[in-house]
Amino acid sequence: MGSGKSTVTKSFDVTIAGEINLDLILYGLPEAMPLERELLASAFRMTLGSSSAILAHNLAALGMRVGFITRLGDDPLGEIALERLVERGVDVTRVKRVHGGPSTGVTILLHHGGKRHILTYPGTMFEMDANDIDLDYLASGRHFHLSSLFLHKALQPALPGIFRKLKAAGLTLSLDTNDDPDDRWDGALDELLGLVDIFLPNEDEACRITGKADAETAIGVLAARIPIVAVKCGKQGSLVQAGQERWRLPAESVAPVDTIGAGDSFNAGFLCAYLKGKPPADCAAFGNRTAALSTLRSGGTESFRDPELFREFLSSAE
Ligand SMILES: Nc1ncnc2c1ncn2[C@@H]1O[C@H](COP(=O)(O)OP(=O)(O)OP(=O)(O)O)[C@@H](O)[C@H]1O
Ligand SMILES: [Mg+2]
Repeated sequence: MGSGKSTVTKSFDVTIAGEINLDLILYGLPEAMPLERELLASAFRMTLGSSSAILAHNLAALGMRVGFITRLGDDPLGEIALERLVERGVDVTRVKRVHGGPSTGVTILLHHGGKRHILTYPGTMFEMDANDIDLDYLASGRHFHLSSLFLHKALQPALPGIFRKLKAAGLTLSLDTNDDPDDRWDGALDELLGLVDIFLPNEDEACRITGKADAETAIGVLAARIPIVAVKCGKQGSLVQAGQERWRLPAESVAPVDTIGAGDSFNAGFLCAYLKGKPPADCAAFGNRTAALSTLRSGGTESFRDPELFREFLSSAE
C-alpha cells in the first residue's frame, strides 16, 4: 500500500523505526519498599510507553503524517500499545508481528516518596533488526527519526547504513539516544552524529557523550559537527544551537503530574515546528510547550489524548 516507488510524492512527514511498549505506572507507594510485603499503591495507570512510540503518537496528535515500524511479540500488551497509535492515525501497516519469540517489552514505574523505580523488560526491542525494516517505506517520509539508540541492540549495527540511504533519498534525520544503560556511549553513535541534521539529547546525555561537565560546553562541542542541537534541561527548559548561534528557552510554568515522556513530547513539538519551516529557537520554544503539556497527565501521551486540554494548552502557541 503506497510504499511508493516514486521518489516525488512523500506519504509521510515523519517516519520512525523503533520500540513500542506499555507503561504500567503505580503512584503513591510507600517511601520504603521492604521485600516480601504487600505494598499498596494509591493509583494505577496503563498507558503507551517507549520513546519511539510516544513520539509517533504525539507527532500525529500535532497533525503530522507519521509512519511507524516496530517489531511486536505475540502478546496482548503489544496489541494494546499499537492500538493507541492506530487511534491517533499513525500508519502501522509495516509493523512486523513475530510469533513464538520474546513478547513485546513492558515498563513498570513505581512512584514512591518523590522518587521512582523504573523496571523494563525489553522483549522485542532488543530483537528488532534490519530484516524488520522496510527502507522504501521509511524513505517515503520527509524526515526520519530514531530514538533509544542503545535499546536497539540488534538494529544498531545496521543504522549507519540506513541513515546514509535515507539521507541520499533526501530525508532530513534526527536522533535522540536517550540513556545508554551500559554508560559506554559507543557503537554506532559517533557515525550517526556525523549524519544527523538534528540531535536531541537531554543535559546528562549531552555531557556524557562529550565528556564535558555542563550543558553549555557540551552543546558547543556537539554543534561543531551537527547543524542543530537541542539539549533538554528538565525544568530549566532547553538550550538550542545552530552553527554559532545559541538560545536558552525557559520551561513553561506548570505543576507536573509526572514528567514521563516529557523528552519525547519535546521532540514531537520541536520536529513539528521544524517541518513547518520554523527557525531553531521557535522549534525549541514549541518543544518546551508540548513537553509541559505532557507533564499535566500521567505518562507521555495522555495529555495528547485529552482533546480539551490539548486544544486549550496549545491554542496560544504557534
Ligand atoms: N518541571 C517541569 N516544568 C516544565 N517543563 C518541564 C519540566 N520538566 C521537564 N520539562 C520540559 O520537558 C522537556 C524535557 O524534559 P527532560 O529534560 O526531563 O527530558 P528527558 O530527560 O529527555 O525526558 P525523558 O525522560 O522523556 O527521556 C524540558 O526541556 C522541558 O521543556
Ligand atoms: Mg530523553
